[in-house]
Amino acid sequence: MNNGLIHWPDPLLAIETSCDETSAAVLVDGDIRANIISSQAELHKTWGGVVPEVAARMHVESILPCVEMALKESRILKSNVSAIAVTNRPGLIGALSVGVTFARAFASAAHCPLIGIHHLEGHIWSILGAGAPQIPFISLIVSGGHTELVLVKGIGDYEILGETIDDAAGEAYDKSARLLGFGYPGGSALADAAANGDDKAYALPTGRTTRKYDFSYSGLKTAAMRLIEKDAHLNISHAAASIQSAINRPLVEKSIAACEEFGIRQLTLGGGVSANEHLRTSLKSACERYGIQFLAPPRALCTDNAAMIGIAASLRLAKGDSSPISSLEPISSESIA
Ligand code: KG4
Ligand code: ZN
Repeated sequence: MNNGLIHWPDPLLAIETSCDETSAAVLVDGDIRANIISSQAELHKTWGGVVPEVAARMHVESILPCVEMALKESRILKSNVSAIAVTNRPGLIGALSVGVTFARAFASAAHCPLIGIHHLEGHIWSILGAGAPQIPFISLIVSGGHTELVLVKGIGDYEILGETIDDAAGEAYDKSARLLGFGYPGGSALADAAANGDDKAYALPTGRTTRKYDFSYSGLKTAAMRLIEKDAHLNISHAAASIQSAINRPLVEKSIAACEEFGIRQLTLGGGVSANEHLRTSLKSACERYGIQFLAPPRALCTDNAAMIGIAASLRLAKGDSSPISSLEPISSESIA
């Protein structure tokens, strides 16, 4: 995968525990040797969403087995790890604490550098699994907790052009999926149901925002709720397709408009919702129409995983960045810019 942008040559261990996936990855010279993901989604399904205390407890149980599996799969000895990276912000504080505590202990025992990574920086740079965009580029990050249009001016140099003012795109998928009777998280189930549906069957609103590159999905949730309650003979596939289009439409339109206004010719995608096929194809064809190069991450790097944290960490370490082992802390909320 090494595409010239990543220069950290030695085995790097990366950890991600910001929400409900415990993940450990090993990267050598920019190549992903292992990317182990233990998802708690089945467990949280019972409650219809992530229960923070349960997530933290499950991370405690899974972190060591995940790390050991990643090292074994990549045939790297613990003693050969040359740096450790961990998501330390933003996320569920108890969940983040597990990863950060583990990484600090590992770094101090192994006497190796430690680096705390912003979760969204991982989603942005997961794109290196698909190719190397030329800086500057615009990254659309769409996940369960975030919807952000970011102008990437350099490694660590980001400007937020727009963001959601209420629900994130992934949250809009999950809430709509729940209304339609799919489990948690319902984004991919809704997308499957939408595959054979007519997206013009039901008219749904696009959220209005004061700032032109912001997003709003709370109105869509209310409209979807009304639609589902009102229509006893609702066609689930048509409803799913209409909701999917209503979520994706502003993402495509605003990403293209931002590229045009800022004179940027490359658009990249990141975050769990980037697994959505309709979004990927809609962005690709819109970009083709406007002569913009479009890059989407490989499927394995869309939803939360430690490899993307490792990729971002490799870039940071190569720049000379690192975090103090004695004081790296988890931070529940922090903007990337
Ligand atoms: O990035 P991610 O794994 O976690 C956060 O950082 O939040 O994103 C998870 C989100 C969930 O809301 C999930 O429903 C959504 O990504 N998602 C999808 C698809 N696959 C995952 N949404 C729409 N279509 C998909 N195929
Ligand atoms: Zn994420």
